[in-house]
Amino acid sequence: MIVLSHVQARPVLAAREAGGVRAEVSPDLGLTTVIVGLEPDRIRFPGGEWLGWDALAEIAANEGNCFAVGDGTAQKIVVFSEATNRVYSLFPTASAPTMLVSGIPMHRIKGTDPHQDTLEKIRAIQPVVGQVLDTATGLGYTAIEASKTAEHVITIELDPAALEVARLNPWSRGLFDNPKITQLIGDSFDVIERLPDETFTRIIHDPPVLGLAGHLYSGEFYAELYRVLRRRGRLFHYVGDPESKSGQNTTRGVLRRLQAAGFARVHPYPRAFGVVAVK
Ligand SMILES: C[S@@+](CC[C@H](N)C(=O)[O-])C[C@H]1O[C@@H](n2cnc3c(N)ncnc32)[C@H](O)[C@@H]1O
Repeated sequence: MIVLSHVQARPVLAAREAGGVRAEVSPDLGLTTVIVGLEPDRIRFPGGEWLGWDALAEIAANEGNCFAVGDGTAQKIVVFSEATNRVYSLFPTASAPTMLVSGIPMHRIKGTDPHQDTLEKIRAIQPVVGQVLDTATGLGYTAIEASKTAEHVITIELDPAALEVARLNPWSRGLFDNPKITQLIGDSFDVIERLPDETFTRIIHDPPVLGLAGHLYSGEFYAELYRVLRRRGRLFHYVGDPESKSGQNTTRGVLRRLQAAGFARVHPYPRAFGVVAVK
């Protein structure tokens, strides 16, 4: 599958304007590159897939979407969720794309990018070893990164529509073809009740903003996180911009409720916009 955004399309248009007959382009949002032929009416990929110049110009002019390219067609990667009435779309950056949930990016993109954002979350609880619980799959970046050093990762996603977008994202491939990752569908709040005590060495809790999933910030849920974590196990909890008023307020409440749930060494970890804690 070929996925393009304006980041890949613009240099191809420039190569054509410069009179080139070939150009190097990434068919997977920057992960790898191939050489495409620049024909009078279209570009042609090494596998024979093609796209007309008008369609490529449309991609180049759109800074808000990624496009799945078929034979001669380019479709915006956007999925409407019947389950939650939310719209999920793949939003390009110069690095890994993020997903917009009804317009809100699910990774940091100001002054950083989704890949760096993911690495910071993982660093907060490194070394990420043993059994890992990832409470909010999204594009699977935290699950994929954790799986590089962990024995196994269980990741939970509420909305199948989010996974539909992830399936079309080249940067999410590891989520679907890595046997070290098990995907569960459901509300983490409910799913966690079925997980055994003291199972995980690390927990990555990267929920949507408080306003969209208040129960995932509740003392009741934190008590469950505590229960499934092994002794000396560590938790990273994404909270939001520590400089913003809402981030500060949310962080205060999170710190208090994590302590009340039994966690020790609970402290802010501003580099990753979150909080870390130990059992
Ligand atoms: C901030 S994103 C997670 C990003 C992810 N860690 C990554 O690296 O790509 C939050 C995700 O949690 C999902 N979600 C929302 N409510 C949830 C719930 N109650 N249980 C599980 N997942 C939930 C959203 O659909 C969204 O995909």
